[in-house]
Amino acid sequence: MASVSPPPGTSDILPCDSPAWRWVESVAAEVFLLYGYGEIRTPVLEFTELFQRGIGGETDIVRKEMYTFTDKGGRSLTLRPEGTAGVMRALAGEAASGNGARVFYLGPMFRGERPAAGRRRQFHQIGVEDVGSDSPAADAESIAMLVRFLDTLGIAGYRILVNTRGSSADAASVSEILKERLKPLADSLCADCQSRLDRNPWRVLDCKNTLCQAVVDALPDITESFSEDSRSRFDEVKRCLDAFGVDYEVSPRLVRGLDYYAHTVFEVVHSGLGAQDALAGGGRYEVPVPGVKRPVAGVGFALGMERLLMVLESLSVELPSLDPPKVYLAALGSDALLANLKMAEALRAAGVGVVASLDARSLKSQMRTANRIGAEFAVIRGGDELTRGVVACRTMSDSSQVELPESDLLEFVAGRNG
Ligand code: HAM
Repeated sequence: MASVSPPPGTSDILPCDSPAWRWVESVAAEVFLLYGYGEIRTPVLEFTELFQRGIGGETDIVRKEMYTFTDKGGRSLTLRPEGTAGVMRALAGEAASGNGARVFYLGPMFRGERPAAGRRRQFHQIGVEDVGSDSPAADAESIAMLVRFLDTLGIAGYRILVNTRGSSADAASVSEILKERLKPLADSLCADCQSRLDRNPWRVLDCKNTLCQAVVDALPDITESFSEDSRSRFDEVKRCLDAFGVDYEVSPRLVRGLDYYAHTVFEVVHSGLGAQDALAGGGRYEVPVPGVKRPVAGVGFALGMERLLMVLESLSVELPSLDPPKVYLAALGSDALLANLKMAEALRAAGVGVVASLDARSLKSQMRTANRIGAEFAVIRGGDELTRGVVACRTMSDSSQVELPESDLLEFVAGRNG
């Protein structure tokens, strides 16, 4: 039967897909727990200001991609385009207390982008934040945890790109240097980058357009303009990555698209993803939160769930599928149907999955259902079996059938793996 499509760039996660999602989510929770991270759930809706201030008014996300509306009280609300800003709002107190917090989150994010393979308007992220940390070792540990997660899932063939954006103090002066260097070359840049030049010259560095890449490749190394402290901090991050045994590449043009980053930035890319090849992205940040005096600092990353599943499929990693119910109970006549309801509950109480026919259809139609749902056994009874206290139990794989006392059914179905 044809189903009605949801809005472009969104999709349904159907029962046949859910086991793979749950598996990935449970591996995430297990791996992150090894590093002391607990789950946080923040609202999908936040005040718009949180993202405008947190992510940055000049970013593509805030300028063009947010789903924003005004509520009845006249406040502007936005469907979260990412998870970090909300988590910083929720944990600003912990960060200020000096205790910090290690959290992970799973859930839907919303960006009004042009839908394409791997680019969606509602997508799901798995993210982590080490809030309040400031050691270079924390940056490296975050990347090491991401590696452990990918390896535990069986993902091979990814590349880890790391870079530094320098300190937030460096950022302003480097913006000016970039503008100075790029403005004379503006005619050779794509239209997007020409308009970015004044607003956000950093983004020219990681533009995918080949014209812009040629311009950027000819620029002197921008890290030369960073303070000595920023450069030695990045050296320390790399030393820690080596200590963790992480295989990474320094990618001098990696800047990432959110303004809250300072110092380390990183991305995991995978060729199985095609044009949208970023599987995960993250870095160290200082996120301004409305109503909070100092930006909330920390380090973390997020992976796109849909992209993760695309990679797993491209690698033919075996994903869990929906377990069919073990038993289908077929009833001939209303007395048998009532007796089956009771028997179904007894089997379920013993942990056996059961679907019982809830109307007295023909046996043929009930057996078709047993087949369609993939039950291992079809248990059939009518008035005659009911009177004699027995059931007919058919093993669906070979159509063999035995008659058993009802009291032996649990042992029979639980003890056999057809
Ligand atoms: P992001 O790079 O914007 O970073 O997103 C992280 C990941 O989410 C991407 O690598 C990608 O896999 C997935 N993703 C992003 N946009 C889409 C889309 N339109 N469709 C499908 N998947 C998408 C952040 O969101 C930061 N909050 C990450 C972070 C956490 N940094 C520090 N902590």
